[in-house]
Amino acid sequence: MPDKSDGCDMEAAEARTGKRIPADYEASDLSPARFGARSALVHWFAEISSTMDAARELARQGCPHMSLVVAERQREGRGRLARSWDSREGGLYFTLVTRPLLPPELAHLVLFTASVSLCCAIRGLYGVEAGLKWPNDVLSGGKKLSGMLSELSAEGGRISYLNMGIGVNVNNDPGSTVAGAVSLKNLLGRAVDRGELLSAFLDEMDAGLGRMGDGKVMARWRALAETPGRSVTVATVRETLSGEAIDVDEDGALLLLLADGSVTRVLHGDCFHEAPGGKP
Ligand code: BTN
Repeated sequence: MPDKSDGCDMEAAEARTGKRIPADYEASDLSPARFGARSALVHWFAEISSTMDAARELARQGCPHMSLVVAERQREGRGRLARSWDSREGGLYFTLVTRPLLPPELAHLVLFTASVSLCCAIRGLYGVEAGLKWPNDVLSGGKKLSGMLSELSAEGGRISYLNMGIGVNVNNDPGSTVAGAVSLKNLLGRAVDRGELLSAFLDEMDAGLGRMGDGKVMARWRALAETPGRSVTVATVRETLSGEAIDVDEDGALLLLLADGSVTRVLHGDCFHEAPGGKP
């Protein structure tokens, strides 16, 4: 486990954001030792306010690309649009710090690459029928398996860090607390190794970032997407819109056909699929 060897002041980050408990740390299926060559980049916490806070601290202090903050529990797990994220034991809660050599306008390529990577890791490891909901959720059977939050900092027209916080329902039971959510354990009828899933995601992510310049990021997302063709409701910070999701453009915006026949582009928002019969 790195302390200051990677240039990050972990003691300061821990004091502000949480704590590490060595005994739990060795026993956990997310123990940094499980990540082989990546272990020096993994910052494990038994409990933390939010992995987003520690990751921001690390990123500001110059930690390397692909540094990872992972926690067994979060006291104040955050979701999109100011919601909270249920972060009890058994789930997988992490924030990945990336430093892509891109202008901020292209940050969505990294985010969509991450959701494709997670979806592929889940399908590949467990054979689960997983798909994507705009912009970055992974669903199975219409229920939410994972969600993503991001935080970006840019300087001089370049991204300085792009942090992606991902919560995956793995060995927890979200259905008892969150409507419309499901875990891998619920789907498979057995607990799975979270370290194996996180490693598979990181492998997919490395490969995805490597081919990000090929102009096919959105095509890869579309191939797994469940949103196009659906009746949806989209909540943005300003308004709530309903219509038919036509497609997602190369900027990652959702193209929505409204009742008056016009098409609007939604760049940021939370999307809810309506059931095929018309009921939400
Ligand atoms: C969503 O609302 O769908 C996004 C959920 C993101 C949750 C993850 S858990 C790890 C990271 N830390 C947080 O506080 N939130 C993200």
